[in-house]
Amino acid sequence: MRIGVLGTGVVGQTLAGKLVQVGHEVTMGSRQAGNEKALAWAAAAGDGAHEGSFADAAGFGEVVINATGGMVSLDALAAAGAGNLAGKVLIDVSNPLDFSKGMPPTLSVCNTDSVGEQIQRAYPDARVVKAFNTVNAGVMVDPGQAAAPHNLFICGNDGAAKAQVAGLALSLGWPAEDILDLGDIAGSRAMEMYLPMWLRLASATGSWQVNVKVVTPPPA
Ligand SMILES: NC(=O)c1ccc[n+]([C@@H]2O[C@H](COP(=O)([O-])OP(=O)(O)OC[C@H]3O[C@@H](n4cnc5c(N)ncnc54)[C@H](OP(=O)(O)O)[C@@H]3O)[C@@H](O)[C@H]2O)c1
Repeated sequence: MRIGVLGTGVVGQTLAGKLVQVGHEVTMGSRQAGNEKALAWAAAAGDGAHEGSFADAAGFGEVVINATGGMVSLDALAAAGAGNLAGKVLIDVSNPLDFSKGMPPTLSVCNTDSVGEQIQRAYPDARVVKAFNTVNAGVMVDPGQAAAPHNLFICGNDGAAKAQVAGLALSLGWPAEDILDLGDIAGSRAMEMYLPMWLRLASATGSWQVNVKVVTPPPA
C-alpha cells in the first residue's frame, strides 16, 4: 500500500521505517521537501522510502498518517491540502501537548473537544481514525516490547476505515484481540486526555514502554 506519513520526528520516522520494512511504500512529508531528517530517513530506509512536502506525502498516500505535534497538526494538514485527504483514511497519532509552561505539559484542547475531532471537522471528507497516540513510538511498531498483552485504542466515525487501521496495526504486530475500538471520533477526547495518566505511569514505572490492559469481569 502507498502511505503518506506527515512528520519527521521520532514517531514519523519509527512508523515510516516499520511500514517500509513490512512492504509498504512510504513518502515522509515535512514543511519543505528536502528536509534533512526526511532525506536521511529515506536514504537509510531503502527501497520504498521517499520524502517530500506535506502535500507530496498526502497526495502519495492511499492512507495518510498525521505524526505532527497536536498544536500544529491543523497547520500541517492545511499544507497537505484538503484535496489530498478527501476520501482517505487519515490516522491521527497526535497529542495536544503544550510544553510552553514547562513540564509536565498541559493539554491545549480537552474535555469538550480534541485534536482528532478538530481534524475530522476541518476535513469532513477524510476518514479520521485516532490511533497509536497512547503508546510510545517504539511500542507502536513493536508491541512485543511489553511483557504481557496490552491494548491499542482506536476510534473514528467510519467502521471500514477503523477496520483498515486495525489491519495495519496487525501488520505491525498488534494481536487483533488487543485492539480496542472506543467508538466514534469523540473518543479522541479520552485517548488524548489519557496522556497525563500515561506520563505519570511512565514516571512511576520508569519505563517509556509502559502501557495498559483493560480487563472486565469473567462472563457469568
Ligand atoms: N514520542 C512518542 O513516542 C509519541 C507517542 C505517541 C504520540 N506521539 C505524538 O505524535 C506526534 C509526533 O511526535 P514527534 O515527537 O514524532 O514529532 P514532533 O516533534 O511533535 O513533530 C514533528 C513534525 O511537526 C512538524 N511541525 C513543527 N512545527 C510545525 C508547524 N508550525 N506547522 C506545521 N508542521 C510543523 C515538523 O515539520 P518539519 O518536518 O518541517 O520540521 C515535523 O514534521 C505528536 O503529536 C506527539 O504528541 C508521540
